[in-house]
Amino acid sequence: MSEIGHAKVEKNIGLMAVLITVALSLGGLAEIVPLMYQAEAIKPLPGVEPYPALELAGRDVYVREGCYNCHSQMIRTLRFETERYGHYSLAGESVYDRPFQWGSKRTGPDLARVGGRYSDDWHRVHLINPRDVVPESNMPSFPWLAQNTLDGKQVTAHMRTLQRLGDPYTDEQIAAAPADVAGKTELDAVVAYLQALGKHAPRGE
Ligand code: HEC
Repeated sequence: MSEIGHAKVEKNIGLMAVLITVALSLGGLAEIVPLMYQAEAIKPLPGVEPYPALELAGRDVYVREGCYNCHSQMIRTLRFETERYGHYSLAGESVYDRPFQWGSKRTGPDLARVGGRYSDDWHRVHLINPRDVVPESNMPSFPWLAQNTLDGKQVTAHMRTLQRLGDPYTDEQIAAAPADVAGKTELDAVVAYLQALGKHAPRGE
């Protein structure tokens, strides 16, 4: 642009705002649109399948209780992150996460690789009162999870909705859901969900 043209744009705040918007939109589109068509970004990693009934119910509790306000599930490709948590997160791990729980707020540690790190019993005690196992913890207690039993109808409806949206649940899996969660508590469900986090991540860094 000629020098005079440049001066004109710089002195006209309205025109400048329009041009900035255009430039940012084009830049954003150039980053976002190719991802929508990239098969690997929407293809599940080997072994990644829609959540079984109990884990799905646990995931719902996780969202309801706002665990994401303090825990991310997104390990970045930085050395200090992979050394602490494990392999960095891949898009193919969260294909069936609606909505995903990546987040960025870390009052507590990232949970993307927490599956298998502790026993089921540890998680139970920790969720009912974190200070029983981590004395300095400031994570809230969630004692009611042990009292609330799961509603098979709700889990069934959720699975059916996900099936309609394209998740490959079979009708048999959905029909079996009420039996899968019968007599189980919300605590059982959250623990099952936590223990499955990172199950299909590549091993090593
Ligand atoms: C107000 C913030 C906060 C909320 C909300 C919260 N946490 Fe935590 N969480 C923490 C902190 C801080 C720690 C680290 C201390 C500890 O282990 O208790 C932690 C630790 C954990 C750990 C152990 C992680 C590890 O690698 O050692 C798990 C598992 C966990 N939280 C699960 C949950 C779940 C599930 C919920 C929701 C039901 C939840 N948290 C809600 C703050 C929070």
